[in-house]
Amino acid sequence: MPESASAPLSPAAGLDEAERRADGRRIRAMFDAVAPRYDSMNDVMSFGIHRLWKRKVRRMAGKPRGRGLALDLAGGTGDIADLMADKGWAVVVCDPSQGMLEAGIKANAGPRVRWVSGAGEALPFPDRTFDVVTLGFGLRNMTDRKGALAEVLRVLAPGGQVLCLEFSTPWRVIRPAYERYSRRTIPRLGAAIARQPEAYQYLVESIGAFPDQETLAGWLRETGFIDVRYRNLSLGIAAIHVGARPADA
Ligand SMILES: C[S@@+](CC[C@H](N)C(=O)[O-])C[C@H]1O[C@@H](n2cnc3c(N)ncnc32)[C@H](O)[C@@H]1O
Repeated sequence: MPESASAPLSPAAGLDEAERRADGRRIRAMFDAVAPRYDSMNDVMSFGIHRLWKRKVRRMAGKPRGRGLALDLAGGTGDIADLMADKGWAVVVCDPSQGMLEAGIKANAGPRVRWVSGAGEALPFPDRTFDVVTLGFGLRNMTDRKGALAEVLRVLAPGGQVLCLEFSTPWRVIRPAYERYSRRTIPRLGAAIARQPEAYQYLVESIGAFPDQETLAGWLRETGFIDVRYRNLSLGIAAIHVGARPADA
């Protein structure tokens, strides 16, 4: 069973505390509901491409260094954690959805990793704990994204790296086809496979509202990360942003 770590959420920009808590509860409940079919839905919706993107995260993370400790934040069913564990990282998955964690314990990394219940806005870990933090399709779902990035910086060891894999702004040439696919096909697949059309409607809307590559790079710099860069995946449909905690911070 996941360990419990229900720390309070930090104050939000734009939303008051009560709205933020209500939003967080709604998002958690949505992931609890999709959890049993989450992995298969990802395979169908992305034609399996999400697995290639996640392997790219692992390649960019490289071999274990420092104490070899990795945090897979918003780790969900733990497929990134599983890949990182294959490379020899000691991995902690942290996610607030009990349903996602339980599905992951059954399906993916199981006992190879440590499973912790917690939210990105108030990470239940001491300062300077991890050598790398992976964050796959998680930042978009957080109610205080900049607060969560500050938390990631806090729990990274000096010189440690964050790798944030997220949907982004695709190249202009594929935008019309991509938008048609997102708006028409994804909610239908969500209804047919996951039986949760609202969750996949939310997915489409949250992707559309998420900042583009340069804006997210700016957020990382503002938070205090250095050596910030990003790599577009599949013509910018997704991107991996990388940033480091300064070695002397
Ligand atoms: C789209 S899933 C991504 C799961 C996995 N990382 C992947 O790449 O497939 C988003 C995850 O973010 C989690 N999540 C939602 N709100 C969160 C928060 N405030 N802090 C951390 N994780 C959160 C959800 O429970 C869910 O497991």
